[in-house]
Amino acid sequence: MAAEIENDYLFHNDNELTRLALQHVIIKDATKGKQVFAPISFDGSPLQILDACTGDGLWIRDLQASIAPNDSQHSYTGTDIEVSYFPKEPPANTSYHVQDITKPWPADWNGKFDLIHQRLALVVPGSEENTIKALKGYVDLLKPGGWIQLVEVRQWTKETDGQAFKDLNVCLADMIKTIGASLTHIDNAKSWLESLGLVDVQEETVEANYGTREDKKAQEIAKRSILTTAGSILGITSTFPQQLLTLPQERVVGIKDDLESEFNKEPVSAHWQYKIVWGRKGA
Ligand SMILES: C[S@@+](CC[C@H](N)C(=O)[O-])C[C@H]1O[C@@H](n2cnc3c(N)ncnc32)[C@H](O)[C@@H]1O
Repeated sequence: MAAEIENDYLFHNDNELTRLALQHVIIKDATKGKQVFAPISFDGSPLQILDACTGDGLWIRDLQASIAPNDSQHSYTGTDIEVSYFPKEPPANTSYHVQDITKPWPADWNGKFDLIHQRLALVVPGSEENTIKALKGYVDLLKPGGWIQLVEVRQWTKETDGQAFKDLNVCLADMIKTIGASLTHIDNAKSWLESLGLVDVQEETVEANYGTREDKKAQEIAKRSILTTAGSILGITSTFPQQLLTLPQERVVGIKDDLESEFNKEPVSAHWQYKIVWGRKGA
Protein backbone atom coordinates (compact mmCIF):
# COMPACT_ATOMS: atom_id res chain seq x y z
CA MET A 1 0.00 0.00 0.00
CA ALA A 2 1.32 3.45 -0.81
CA ALA A 3 2.51 5.39 2.24
CA GLU A 4 1.77 8.75 0.69
CA ILE A 5 -0.67 9.62 -2.04
CA GLU A 6 -1.09 12.99 -3.64
CA ASN A 7 -4.60 13.99 -2.58
CA ASP A 8 -6.59 15.72 -5.29
CA TYR A 9 -9.97 15.13 -3.61
CA LEU A 10 -12.01 18.23 -4.51
CA PHE A 11 -13.34 18.85 -1.00
CA HIS A 12 -10.07 18.38 0.87
CA ASN A 13 -10.32 21.32 3.29
CA ASP A 14 -10.47 22.02 7.02
CA ASN A 15 -14.28 21.93 7.10
CA GLU A 16 -14.62 18.56 5.44
CA LEU A 17 -15.10 16.32 8.48
CA THR A 18 -17.71 18.69 9.94
CA ARG A 19 -19.48 18.70 6.59
CA LEU A 20 -19.43 14.89 6.43
CA ALA A 21 -20.72 14.54 10.01
CA LEU A 22 -23.69 16.83 9.32
CA GLN A 23 -24.41 15.04 6.07
CA HIS A 24 -24.28 11.67 7.83
CA VAL A 25 -27.10 12.77 10.16
CA ILE A 26 -29.30 13.87 7.27
CA ILE A 27 -28.69 10.77 5.15
CA LYS A 28 -29.45 8.57 8.15
CA ASP A 29 -32.62 10.54 8.75
CA ALA A 30 -33.60 10.03 5.09
CA THR A 31 -33.05 6.27 5.36
CA LYS A 32 -35.02 6.21 8.66
CA GLY A 33 -31.91 5.08 10.50
CA LYS A 34 -31.18 2.16 8.17
CA GLN A 35 -27.46 1.98 7.42
CA VAL A 36 -27.27 -1.40 5.71
CA PHE A 37 -29.78 -2.30 2.99
CA ALA A 38 -28.00 -5.51 2.00
CA PRO A 39 -29.74 -8.39 3.82
CA ILE A 40 -26.93 -9.18 6.22
CA SER A 41 -27.25 -10.56 9.73
CA PHE A 42 -24.90 -9.02 12.26
CA ASP A 43 -25.91 -11.37 15.05
CA GLY A 44 -24.38 -14.48 13.48
CA SER A 45 -20.84 -15.46 12.54
CA PRO A 46 -18.02 -12.88 12.49
CA LEU A 47 -18.03 -10.66 9.41
CA GLN A 48 -15.29 -8.71 7.64
CA ILE A 49 -16.65 -5.25 6.79
CA LEU A 50 -14.92 -2.68 4.57
CA ASP A 51 -15.92 0.97 4.33
CA ALA A 52 -14.05 2.40 1.34
CA CYS A 53 -13.56 6.18 1.13
CA THR A 54 -14.48 6.18 4.80
CA GLY A 55 -13.42 9.74 5.70
CA ASP A 56 -13.01 9.57 9.50
CA GLY A 57 -14.89 6.28 9.79
CA LEU A 58 -18.16 7.76 11.03
CA TRP A 59 -20.24 5.20 9.14
CA ILE A 60 -18.23 2.40 10.77
CA ARG A 61 -18.63 3.83 14.27
CA ASP A 62 -22.35 4.38 13.79
CA LEU A 63 -22.83 0.87 12.40
CA GLN A 64 -21.00 -0.52 15.44
CA ALA A 65 -23.25 1.47 17.77
CA SER A 66 -26.41 0.43 15.93
CA ILE A 67 -25.68 -3.31 16.05
CA ALA A 68 -24.22 -3.35 19.60
CA PRO A 69 -23.75 -5.63 21.46
CA ASN A 70 -23.36 -7.71 18.27
CA ASP A 71 -20.67 -5.37 16.94
CA SER A 72 -17.66 -6.74 18.79
CA GLN A 73 -17.36 -10.07 16.98
CA HIS A 74 -16.91 -8.41 13.57
CA SER A 75 -13.83 -6.83 11.96
CA TYR A 76 -14.04 -3.40 10.41
CA THR A 77 -11.66 -1.87 7.89
CA GLY A 78 -11.84 1.75 6.78
CA THR A 79 -9.85 3.03 3.82
CA ASP A 80 -9.36 6.50 2.42
CA ILE A 81 -6.83 8.46 0.43
CA GLU A 82 -6.44 10.94 3.32
CA VAL A 83 -4.61 9.59 6.37
CA SER A 84 -5.21 12.67 8.56
CA TYR A 85 -8.95 11.86 8.71
CA PHE A 86 -8.44 8.52 10.46
CA PRO A 87 -9.24 8.05 14.19
CA LYS A 88 -6.00 7.94 16.15
CA GLU A 89 -6.93 5.09 18.49
CA PRO A 90 -9.54 2.85 16.89
CA PRO A 91 -10.80 -0.20 18.80
CA ALA A 92 -8.88 -3.45 18.34
CA ASN A 93 -11.36 -4.84 15.79
CA THR A 94 -11.18 -1.70 13.59
CA SER A 95 -8.31 -0.63 11.38
CA TYR A 96 -7.75 2.20 8.94
CA HIS A 97 -5.52 2.13 5.86
CA VAL A 98 -4.55 4.58 3.16
CA GLN A 99 -5.85 3.23 -0.12
CA ASP A 100 -6.68 4.97 -3.38
CA ILE A 101 -9.72 3.15 -4.82
CA THR A 102 -8.38 3.63 -8.34
CA LYS A 103 -5.19 1.72 -7.48
CA PRO A 104 -4.65 -2.02 -6.94
CA TRP A 105 -5.76 -3.27 -3.52
CA PRO A 106 -3.49 -5.40 -1.33
CA ALA A 107 -3.41 -8.87 -2.90
CA ASP A 108 -4.09 -10.56 0.44
CA TRP A 109 -7.44 -8.70 0.70
CA ASN A 110 -8.84 -10.62 -2.29
CA GLY A 111 -11.95 -12.58 -1.33
CA LYS A 112 -11.78 -11.23 2.24
CA PHE A 113 -14.91 -9.14 2.81
CA ASP A 114 -18.55 -10.00 3.59
CA LEU A 115 -19.71 -6.40 3.13
CA ILE A 116 -18.14 -3.52 1.23
CA HIS A 117 -19.77 -0.13 1.76
CA GLN A 118 -18.97 3.01 -0.18
CA ARG A 119 -20.82 6.29 0.29
CA LEU A 120 -20.50 9.54 -1.63
CA ALA A 121 -17.45 8.52 -3.63
CA LEU A 122 -18.78 6.93 -6.84
CA VAL A 123 -17.59 9.89 -8.89
CA VAL A 124 -14.02 9.64 -7.55
CA PRO A 125 -12.64 7.44 -10.36
CA GLY A 126 -14.11 9.78 -13.02
CA SER A 127 -15.23 8.20 -16.28
CA GLU A 128 -17.68 5.32 -16.61
CA GLU A 129 -14.80 3.05 -17.63
CA ASN A 130 -12.70 3.95 -14.58
CA THR A 131 -15.70 3.65 -12.27
CA ILE A 132 -16.53 0.15 -13.49
CA LYS A 133 -12.86 -0.74 -13.04
CA ALA A 134 -12.98 0.50 -9.42
CA LEU A 135 -16.19 -1.48 -8.82
CA LYS A 136 -14.49 -4.56 -10.26
CA GLY A 137 -11.78 -3.98 -7.64
CA TYR A 138 -14.47 -4.27 -4.94
CA VAL A 139 -15.94 -7.42 -6.48
CA ASP A 140 -12.50 -9.03 -6.28
CA LEU A 141 -12.28 -8.09 -2.57
CA LEU A 142 -15.62 -9.77 -1.79
CA LYS A 143 -16.00 -13.29 -0.48
CA PRO A 144 -18.36 -15.44 -2.55
CA GLY A 145 -21.80 -14.51 -1.17
CA GLY A 146 -20.53 -11.12 0.06
CA TRP A 147 -22.40 -7.86 -0.55
CA ILE A 148 -21.51 -4.42 -1.95
CA GLN A 149 -23.56 -1.37 -0.99
CA LEU A 150 -23.20 2.02 -2.69
CA VAL A 151 -24.89 5.22 -1.49
CA GLU A 152 -24.89 8.41 -3.58
CA VAL A 153 -26.66 11.68 -4.12
CA ARG A 154 -28.69 11.80 -7.37
CA GLN A 155 -28.85 14.61 -9.92
CA TRP A 156 -32.26 15.82 -8.77
CA THR A 157 -34.10 18.62 -6.99
CA LYS A 158 -37.80 18.99 -6.24
CA GLU A 159 -39.95 21.24 -8.41
CA THR A 160 -40.82 23.40 -5.39
CA ASP A 161 -37.19 23.91 -4.33
CA GLY A 162 -35.77 27.43 -4.29
CA GLN A 163 -33.95 28.76 -7.35
CA ALA A 164 -30.62 29.22 -5.56
CA PHE A 165 -30.81 25.63 -4.29
CA LYS A 166 -31.55 24.42 -7.84
CA ASP A 167 -28.67 26.51 -9.21
CA LEU A 168 -26.35 25.06 -6.57
CA ASN A 169 -27.15 21.64 -7.97
CA VAL A 170 -26.34 22.76 -11.50
CA CYS A 171 -22.93 23.85 -10.14
CA LEU A 172 -22.46 20.52 -8.38
CA ALA A 173 -23.10 18.67 -11.65
CA ASP A 174 -20.66 21.00 -13.48
CA MET A 175 -18.01 20.43 -10.81
CA ILE A 176 -18.36 16.65 -11.08
CA LYS A 177 -18.06 16.89 -14.87
CA THR A 178 -14.63 18.53 -14.54
CA ILE A 179 -13.23 15.31 -13.07
CA GLY A 180 -14.64 13.34 -16.01
CA ALA A 181 -17.46 11.90 -13.90
CA SER A 182 -21.21 12.38 -13.70
CA LEU A 183 -23.77 12.70 -10.93
CA THR A 184 -25.79 10.16 -12.94
CA HIS A 185 -23.25 7.38 -12.24
CA ILE A 186 -25.42 6.07 -9.39
CA ASP A 187 -28.34 5.61 -11.80
CA ASN A 188 -26.11 3.27 -13.82
CA ALA A 189 -24.65 1.47 -10.82
CA LYS A 190 -27.23 -1.34 -10.77
CA SER A 191 -26.50 -2.34 -14.36
CA TRP A 192 -22.73 -1.91 -13.81
CA LEU A 193 -22.82 -4.25 -10.80
CA GLU A 194 -24.90 -6.76 -12.81
CA SER A 195 -22.41 -6.56 -15.68
CA LEU A 196 -19.68 -7.44 -13.16
CA GLY A 197 -21.57 -10.62 -12.27
CA LEU A 198 -23.28 -9.53 -9.05
CA VAL A 199 -26.70 -11.04 -8.38
CA ASP A 200 -29.77 -9.91 -6.40
CA VAL A 201 -28.85 -6.31 -7.27
CA GLN A 202 -31.41 -3.88 -5.92
CA GLU A 203 -31.77 -0.15 -5.54
CA GLU A 204 -33.81 2.24 -3.44
CA THR A 205 -34.13 6.01 -3.57
CA VAL A 206 -34.76 8.08 -0.44
CA GLU A 207 -35.53 11.78 -0.16
CA ALA A 208 -33.60 14.03 2.19
CA ASN A 209 -35.28 17.20 3.39
CA TYR A 210 -32.85 20.10 3.84
CA GLY A 211 -35.65 22.62 4.35
CA THR A 212 -38.55 23.27 6.68
CA ARG A 213 -39.68 20.47 8.95
CA GLU A 214 -41.41 20.07 12.30
CA ASP A 215 -38.27 18.94 14.07
CA LYS A 216 -36.45 22.28 14.30
CA LYS A 217 -33.25 20.68 15.63
CA ALA A 218 -33.09 18.40 12.58
CA GLN A 219 -33.92 21.38 10.36
CA GLU A 220 -30.98 23.33 11.80
CA ILE A 221 -28.59 20.41 11.21
CA ALA A 222 -29.89 20.03 7.64
CA LYS A 223 -29.42 23.76 7.02
CA ARG A 224 -25.86 23.69 8.36
CA SER A 225 -25.18 20.57 6.31
CA ILE A 226 -26.33 22.05 3.03
CA LEU A 227 -24.78 25.49 3.58
CA THR A 228 -21.41 23.92 4.44
CA THR A 229 -21.65 21.71 1.34
CA ALA A 230 -22.69 24.70 -0.74
CA GLY A 231 -19.66 26.62 0.53
CA SER A 232 -17.38 23.83 -0.70
CA ILE A 233 -19.11 23.48 -4.08
CA LEU A 234 -19.39 27.21 -4.79
CA GLY A 235 -15.86 27.90 -3.53
CA ILE A 236 -14.68 25.68 -6.38
CA THR A 237 -17.15 26.52 -9.15
CA SER A 238 -16.86 30.29 -8.59
CA THR A 239 -13.25 29.96 -9.80
CA PHE A 240 -14.28 28.15 -13.00
CA PRO A 241 -14.01 29.83 -16.39
CA GLN A 242 -17.33 30.27 -18.19
CA GLN A 243 -16.72 27.31 -20.51
CA LEU A 244 -16.93 24.91 -17.53
CA LEU A 245 -20.18 26.40 -16.28
CA THR A 246 -23.78 25.88 -17.34
CA LEU A 247 -24.92 29.08 -15.60
CA PRO A 248 -23.45 32.53 -16.29
CA GLN A 249 -20.35 33.19 -14.15
CA GLU A 250 -21.96 36.22 -12.52
CA ARG A 251 -24.88 34.03 -11.39
CA VAL A 252 -22.52 31.41 -9.92
CA VAL A 253 -20.82 33.98 -7.67
CA GLY A 254 -24.23 35.21 -6.50
CA ILE A 255 -25.68 31.82 -5.52
CA LYS A 256 -24.15 31.71 -2.02
CA ASP A 257 -25.87 34.90 -0.82
CA ASP A 258 -29.17 33.97 -2.48
CA LEU A 259 -29.03 30.53 -0.92
CA GLU A 260 -28.53 31.99 2.54
CA SER A 261 -31.52 34.29 1.96
CA GLU A 262 -33.60 31.32 0.79
CA PHE A 263 -32.67 29.38 3.93
CA ASN A 264 -33.48 32.32 6.20
CA LYS A 265 -37.05 32.69 4.97
CA GLU A 266 -39.66 30.12 6.01
CA PRO A 267 -40.90 27.89 4.51
CA VAL A 268 -37.72 26.52 2.93
CA SER A 269 -38.00 23.92 0.19
CA ALA A 270 -34.72 22.09 -0.48
CA HIS A 271 -34.45 18.38 -1.21
CA TRP A 272 -31.92 15.87 -2.43
CA GLN A 273 -32.40 12.26 -3.30
CA TYR A 274 -29.93 9.60 -2.31
CA LYS A 275 -29.85 6.25 -4.06
CA ILE A 276 -28.72 3.06 -2.36
CA VAL A 277 -27.65 0.18 -4.63
CA TRP A 278 -26.66 -3.20 -3.28
CA GLY A 279 -25.78 -6.56 -4.79
CA ARG A 280 -24.25 -9.95 -3.93
CA LYS A 281 -21.32 -11.85 -5.34
CA GLY A 282 -22.54 -15.30 -6.40
CA ALA A 283 -21.40 -18.20 -4.22
C1 LIG B 1 -17.68 12.84 0.14
S1 LIG B 1 -16.50 12.07 1.16
C2 LIG B 1 -17.44 10.69 1.82
C3 LIG B 1 -16.87 10.15 3.11
C4 LIG B 1 -17.72 9.06 3.75
N1 LIG B 1 -17.85 7.92 2.88
C5 LIG B 1 -19.08 9.59 4.15
O1 LIG B 1 -20.08 9.21 3.53
O2 LIG B 1 -19.15 10.39 5.08
C6 LIG B 1 -15.41 11.28 0.01
C7 LIG B 1 -14.21 10.62 0.66
O3 LIG B 1 -13.47 9.97 -0.39
C8 LIG B 1 -12.10 10.16 -0.16
N2 LIG B 1 -11.40 10.01 -1.45
C9 LIG B 1 -11.30 10.90 -2.45
N3 LIG B 1 -10.63 10.37 -3.47
C10 LIG B 1 -10.28 9.10 -3.11
C11 LIG B 1 -9.59 8.05 -3.75
N4 LIG B 1 -9.10 8.17 -4.99
N5 LIG B 1 -9.44 6.88 -3.09
C12 LIG B 1 -9.91 6.75 -1.83
N6 LIG B 1 -10.58 7.70 -1.17
C13 LIG B 1 -10.78 8.88 -1.81
C14 LIG B 1 -12.00 11.55 0.44
O4 LIG B 1 -10.78 11.75 1.15
C15 LIG B 1 -13.24 11.58 1.33
O5 LIG B 1 -12.95 11.13 2.63
